[in-house]
Amino acid sequence: MSKLEEARVFEQEWKSEVDRRRPVFHLTPTVGWMNDPNGFSRYKDKYHLFYQYYPYDVKWGPMYWGHAVSDDLIRWERRPVALAPDEPYESGCYSGTAAQSPEYGQVLMYTAHLVDRSGIVTETQCIAYGDGENFRKFPENPVIRTEQLPEGMRASDFRDPKIFRDDDTWYALIVCMDEDGYGNALLYSSKDLKKWTYVNTILKSEDALGRMWECPDIFKMEEKTVMLLSAVEMEATRDFVHHNGHEVLYLVGNYDKEKHEFEPESYGCVDAGLDFYAPQTVEAPDGRRIMIGWIGSWQNAVTPKELPFNGMMSVPRELSVRDGRLYQTPVREIENYYTDTVERTAIIGMKKVMLEDVEGRIADIEMEIRGRDFDTFTICIAENDRYETVINYDKRDRLLTFDRLFSGNRKDSLNMRTMPVTAEKELFRLRLILDRYSVEIFADDGAEVMTSTIFTPLEADGISFVCDGRAELSVVKHGIRVDQE
Ligand code: FRU
Repeated sequence: MSKLEEARVFEQEWKSEVDRRRPVFHLTPTVGWMNDPNGFSRYKDKYHLFYQYYPYDVKWGPMYWGHAVSDDLIRWERRPVALAPDEPYESGCYSGTAAQSPEYGQVLMYTAHLVDRSGIVTETQCIAYGDGENFRKFPENPVIRTEQLPEGMRASDFRDPKIFRDDDTWYALIVCMDEDGYGNALLYSSKDLKKWTYVNTILKSEDALGRMWECPDIFKMEEKTVMLLSAVEMEATRDFVHHNGHEVLYLVGNYDKEKHEFEPESYGCVDAGLDFYAPQTVEAPDGRRIMIGWIGSWQNAVTPKELPFNGMMSVPRELSVRDGRLYQTPVREIENYYTDTVERTAIIGMKKVMLEDVEGRIADIEMEIRGRDFDTFTICIAENDRYETVINYDKRDRLLTFDRLFSGNRKDSLNMRTMPVTAEKELFRLRLILDRYSVEIFADDGAEVMTSTIFTPLEADGISFVCDGRAELSVVKHGIRVDQE
C-alpha cells in the first residue's frame, strides 16, 4: 500500500471513534491532529477545505493534507486524506492554497518541507492537481526551488504559497525568513504553473510586525487590498491591541499592479484570543469574502490527551473593511441551523443571575448590555460548581478580558487575554459562538474578536451574569443543530 492509501484506511477505521466527541459545526480532523486550513476554495459548486493533518497521533507529525467539502460552510463532509508526504523532495506537505485551472482542474500549491539526513531543512514549492478527491503531483516538482530565492533569504523558512490568477498570469505570494530572522512576502509569477519567476518582495517585516511570517493571504475589498499574515514573535503593546507570540495581522492598503508593491495604510490584530492562527479566505459565489482559521496554538495548547482529536477550524467569518478596520461576522448560513431559540431580558445587579434556558455548550448567543450604573459586567460560561470560563467587560477602560483559568486546563499555559473594545458608552454588543470546546467572542459588530479553546467537561454548561452595579441585559440564544454525515 502507498503512504496515501495506508492513511485512507486508517482514517476509516478510526473516524467513528472520534465522531461522538467532536464539536458539531466546527470542522475537526477526521482523526488525529489538525493545524492550518489549506486550499480553502470553490471547486465544482462546493467549498473545499484542506488542512494540515497528522492522522496517526493527536500531536503534530509529518504533515499530510486532510480534506472536507461543504455546500454552506457549516455542514462539512469528510473526504479521504488528499496529500501524503511521499516524494523524495518532502518529509511533510506544509501549508498552501488552491485554485482552478482550465488545464489541470483543481490545483493545490503547497510547501514541500524537507529535513535531510544531516538535519538540514529546505522548503520548496510544489503543485498537485486533481478532480476534487484524488491528486497527482507534478513530475516537475518542486516548481519553485531555493535557488530561485532573492539574495539574503533563508532556504529553511520559505513557505505557505498563496496562489491566485490575474488575467492570464498565475501569482504565488510566499513568505520567507531573511538572514536577520524577519519575514518577507515574496511574489512569483508563472504562465503555465510549472516555470515560475521571482517578481518582487511586496512587504518586509523588519521587526515592525513580528519576526517570521507564515500563511499570507491577499485579496481585494472594495477599493482596498487586504493582506493577512500570521506573525511569529509579536510583542505586546500597552494598549492591548497586540499580544505576545503568534498573532494574525491584517493590513489594509493599496496594491500597485504595475510595480507589484503593497503600501499598507492601517493594520491591526485579526483575533486577540488564545487560539487563532493561520487563516485563509475564499470568495463566495455572491461575492462575500470568507475567512476560516485554525482554533489552536503552537505554544499554549491545552487539549487534554484523552480526546481522540486535536485542533479545529473556526466558524467561517464574513469579512468587511470600514475606515481601515477589519470586521468579522459568523457566516449567515449558520442561521439555517438555529434551533430552540430563546429571548430573555433582565436587570443584572450584584447577585449572579442565570436565565431560564440560557445555557449550553453549542450555541450562538447575542447580548446587549446597557446602562450607566456599572463599571464591570461579567458573563460566566461553561459553568458548574467546579468550573467557569469568565468574560469580563470593563466599561470604564473599555477592555474585554477572557479568562479560562477554571476551564479544565491542566497545563502550564496562558489562560487570559485582554483586548480593547470600541463600545458606545451605554451599549455594549457581544456575540458568542460556542461549540463544545471553543468560544468565539465577537464584540462591537465584529470589530474585535477573540477565539479560544476550553476543555471543560461538557456537563459544565451553565451561563450566568453579574455586574458591579445595575445593567440591562437582553439575550437571544440559539441552539445549533447540524446532522453531520
Ligand atoms: C503555521 C505553520 C506553517 C507551516 C505549517 C506546518 O501554523 O507553521 O507555516 O506550513 O504550520 O504544519
